[in-house]
Amino acid sequence: MEAKSVNLPAALASFDAVYSPRVVATMNDYDVKIAHTAGDHVWHTHDDTDEFFLVLRGRFDIAMRDSVGTETTVVLKEGDVFVVPKGIEHKPTSPGGAVLMFEPSGTSSTGDSHDGVIPDYVDSTTGHELA
Ligand code: NI
Repeated sequence: MEAKSVNLPAALASFDAVYSPRVVATMNDYDVKIAHTAGDHVWHTHDDTDEFFLVLRGRFDIAMRDSVGTETTVVLKEGDVFVVPKGIEHKPTSPGGAVLMFEPSGTSSTGDSHDGVIPDYVDSTTGHELA
């Protein structure tokens, strides 16, 4: 059995890339991931899973839109948690910060589908190992 803890501030300090999640823990079939955030993400949808966010630093806003295109934005600051329900199209935006995510292993950062061009600073990934 491995008995190695992960320190979140140290883990965040170990990489700089924004919107490029690192897996810090796995629990049952879920991954706990952290990411630096800055700028607009891309509109995307996870068809089969909710997505949990905890803001570790800074601010992180999540715009969501329903099937008729009506937008709602939730504004999150350090310490706030929010769950995007499965099937809801969403686009995170951040002036800078860091988040922790909890979602099934293999969940893509850009969803099962996305709308528009994925910015080159947004990593489309199921998460990277911590270095
Ligand atoms: Ni998402």
